[in-house]
Amino acid sequence: MLKGKHIILGVTGSIAAYKSAVLCRLLVSAGAEVKVVMTNLAKQFITPLTMATVSKNPILVDFFNPENGEWNSHVKLGEWADLYLIAPASANTMAKMAAGVADNLLLTTYLSARCPVAVAPAMDLDMYAHVATQRNMEQLKQDGVHIIEPGSGFLASGLIGKGRMAEPQDIVEAVEAIFASETTNHQKKKSLEGKRFLVTAGATIEPIDPVRFISNHSSGKMGYAVAESLAKRGAEVVLVSGRTALEKPQGVECVDVLSAEEMFEACVERFSKMDGAVMCAAVADYTPQVVAQDKIKKNDDDMSIALKRTRDIAAHLGQHKREGQVLVGFAMETENEEQNATGKLAKKNLDFIVMNSLRKEGAGFRGDTNIVSLIDSHEKVDLPLMSKADVAERIVDKIESFL
Ligand code: C5P
Repeated sequence: MLKGKHIILGVTGSIAAYKSAVLCRLLVSAGAEVKVVMTNLAKQFITPLTMATVSKNPILVDFFNPENGEWNSHVKLGEWADLYLIAPASANTMAKMAAGVADNLLLTTYLSARCPVAVAPAMDLDMYAHVATQRNMEQLKQDGVHIIEPGSGFLASGLIGKGRMAEPQDIVEAVEAIFASETTNHQKKKSLEGKRFLVTAGATIEPIDPVRFISNHSSGKMGYAVAESLAKRGAEVVLVSGRTALEKPQGVECVDVLSAEEMFEACVERFSKMDGAVMCAAVADYTPQVVAQDKIKKNDDDMSIALKRTRDIAAHLGQHKREGQVLVGFAMETENEEQNATGKLAKKNLDFIVMNSLRKEGAGFRGDTNIVSLIDSHEKVDLPLMSKADVAERIVDKIESFL
């Protein structure tokens, strides 16, 4: 797993730095090439000579070599690496990483690194538990940094508690797990290369007159997340979008429409070239029979607007679906959820339907989370409360199982 991998090992000023030599030796024996970057303080805990000997490479501490002026390029170092592992990571270094401070080579290398980054924190229990350290670690997690959790035990201060750097062997196992998950993510990312998908999203707008319209509360977030997830896995995506306030997702062709009829036309025109379609849009079921040319004037009487049925896009695509095309629908129900959703699955000839209930907290229109069940003709899988991005991943996983 580690054979031929390029690893930068960052060492910061912590008593646990003595374990970095063992860690470095384990990485090198597992076949990795290791370059060590140290902070100035780290040199007080373990000598550069020790680290240079175990890593079989010169140690990098300063931006340039004061003897001959040779530049230590953090950019090149960042490009070279497959992983940047900072072990031990002191509270100070993690705080600077979280804030983007770049006052030593170890930190400028962090800001230049394009590879995955992992930190193995090491500090006294009170420093570890401090709200500031926990906040910085949370920030690092959000920034995509892997945290290799410290263990509990005797600390250099004489206290017993959490903050002891993970043991070198455990860090090596964590590094292997990071490489393994990066490989699967990469494979997953490109698993839909060469496939094309149509996604509908957002609310349609049915004009009553030049000023008023009929619409609904759909934010478009679920559909945009599905389009993004398909595109991330290498698919070509056409997103037919009704009204939303969202930024267009990267790498997706967007077609903006207003009414249900416009959305119908845009989808029907494109569906035959697609490998599948995901119908997330909240499409109006009824539209005004006539659209007034001028703004309708009020008078003292009540008024009613005659409505006619719109065409069901999902059902139309279901009728014209050819062998191998995957069609996914959504059902947003307030009563008899499962029965209604299963009915739609059959009626619209969908491969599966994503059912969400407006009655559950955390599900539905505007939020960033959803609680859904994925229902096909064989099974119903209930997913827990998840971000819409994660729900999208699960939907796309299921689409892949149909291809
Ligand atoms: O029948 P109902 O509107 O509840 O079905 C919801 C599903 O059908 C969603 O996937 C929605 O995008 C799709 N739909 C459609 N065209 C319509 C109405 C609904 O594609 N006119």
